[in-house]
Amino acid sequence: MKDPASDPTDRVQDPVGDRRQDHDPVSAWHRLADTSVLLDGFHALKHAVRFRAEVLVAVTSDRQAALALTDELAPDVRDALDALLVEVPEATYRSLVPRPHPTAVAALAVRPSREANLRALAHTPRTAPVVVLDHPRNLGNAGAVIRLAAGFGATGVVTTGTLDPWHPTVVRGGAGLHFATAVERLTVAELPSGPVFALDPDGEDIRGLKLPDDAVLAFGSERSGLSVDLRARADHLVSLPMRPQVSSYNLATSVAMTLFHWSAPQGG
Ligand SMILES: C[S@@+](CC[C@H](N)C(=O)[O-])C[C@H]1O[C@@H](n2cnc3c(N)ncnc32)[C@H](O)[C@@H]1O
Repeated sequence: MKDPASDPTDRVQDPVGDRRQDHDPVSAWHRLADTSVLLDGFHALKHAVRFRAEVLVAVTSDRQAALALTDELAPDVRDALDALLVEVPEATYRSLVPRPHPTAVAALAVRPSREANLRALAHTPRTAPVVVLDHPRNLGNAGAVIRLAAGFGATGVVTTGTLDPWHPTVVRGGAGLHFATAVERLTVAELPSGPVFALDPDGEDIRGLKLPDDAVLAFGSERSGLSVDLRARADHLVSLPMRPQVSSYNLATSVAMTLFHWSAPQGG
């Protein structure tokens, strides 16, 4: 019989183990950067660790300052960050990130699998809504919405269309909170089950409605509002109070008001 330890063809594939094989953080970074999620800055790393992201490599140009910040702002992740953070020269740190962050911290984490996200989105009974952004265009808006969804404990954030909700700019806008909810891109036909409440200025006033925990809350694109497909799937069109002559609210602001309404004790 072959000895699996000496015959590489018999070894169980362990992609994460393979990814961790570098002891030098810089060569690990270069090998992993294209396939991992960039956590840009201390707060993104802190949130990712809190919500159990698998962090593969973490660097800083000032370990002492980063750990002092941890002591001050996030003592709950002190041990984890102490174990993860490797100090590199400032020029090296700057060469690894597109835009240096004031905290001089950056890390790479494993992107959760689509299967895991689909399971989380399909899980019933659902105890908190799923937010759908229908063809969003602005990366900053998408990040802000993911941060809101994390804060309100939403089940997930689904985007339709071409925007990648895991784009580095979205992750930066979301402050690493992608790991606190399920973030995935789907078609309208693939949306999770549950009553679809689509937000539109011509809908029924939200103040007269109770949004159920299994609601799918859908928001239109910044430029053109809800798509034809999403409107066809909607069970209810819902409006946010807005004075005449104001055309619409910003997308992320609309999500904030709607999630707040869902969370209000009397249901709004
Ligand atoms: C910037 S708005 C889109 C404006 C776009 N020009 C349009 O034709 O609808 C982005 C999304 O925010 C939500 N929204 C903005 N203001 C709203 C309001 N007063 N009531 C309900 N939804 C609103 C809608 O889902 C809308 O599609």
